[in-house]
Amino acid sequence: MIAVLLSVILKFMNCEEIMASDRGVLYGLGVGPGDPDLITLKAAGILHHVDVVYAAGSTGNDYSLAVSIAKPHIPEDTPVRLLRFPMTSDKGEKKKAWERHARAIISEMEQGRHIAFITLGDSMTYSTYGYLMKTVLDLAPHLPVVSVPGVTSYQAAAAGLNRPLVEGEESLLLVSGARGGHRFRQCCACAENIVFLKAYKNIADINDALAEADCLETSIAISNCSLPGETVTRDLRTLDRARKNYWTLVLTRQKAENGQTEK
Ligand SMILES: C[S@@+](CC[C@H](N)C(=O)[O-])C[C@H]1O[C@@H](n2cnc3c(N)ncnc32)[C@H](O)[C@@H]1O
Repeated sequence: MIAVLLSVILKFMNCEEIMASDRGVLYGLGVGPGDPDLITLKAAGILHHVDVVYAAGSTGNDYSLAVSIAKPHIPEDTPVRLLRFPMTSDKGEKKKAWERHARAIISEMEQGRHIAFITLGDSMTYSTYGYLMKTVLDLAPHLPVVSVPGVTSYQAAAAGLNRPLVEGEESLLLVSGARGGHRFRQCCACAENIVFLKAYKNIADINDALAEADCLETSIAISNCSLPGETVTRDLRTLDRARKNYWTLVLTRQKAENGQTEK
């Protein structure tokens, strides 16, 4: 019944025609932030039909959060492969890894296999998929690539907290906190609402930057959003002392002119 429903959805979405071609298609699927119910119907439908599922894996272990999220939608006999990306800031080394993985995927596509590369949250937001997709398109521009968006971690966090991200004429700034509060200091005056992703190892400097802008009181951190063990931290200073959790983001907003500090 579910398979029939998904076939109808795929037909409706024109994916069936693409899949009918003799070359394989690369699908870049955002699988949402954690809750398997937050995968889009489109991504779930494609997962039921591809020949191989790929995800990024670290060199340290065999676990992929994206795979565990997508698991209920991947047929048991579909191979799932982890692509190892080195945890390095050396751009040359990273580029070599993307090229090696892109060539492996291209070779499968040339043989007519349909590939899904799954990634956490949205496929186009701070995602390894973006680099892989660009490398595949550079090396094999004749092959079809279809990118499917996903629910981002910060959309899920805002919804979970019943806290609008932006309203009326306001703006939203999305920054990486990997290097601390540097970008926030440069840009915070331009937006009423700010989201930090990668708010973990340099959380102390993020906190300093938030304090300088008088935003600590309006900031809130969410770890493991929509996953088992989700935590909400309203006093961000406690995160300086806590064990760093990579799956942490911070939502913040400038205080209203009337001094409103609602979280
Ligand atoms: C490489 S970025 C990936 C972002 C992802 N593509 C998205 O659309 O949300 C990784 C960062 O996203 C945030 N993140 C992703 N999933 C999360 C979750 N379930 N809970 C909290 N933060 C999450 C964290 O800030 C993490 O350091």
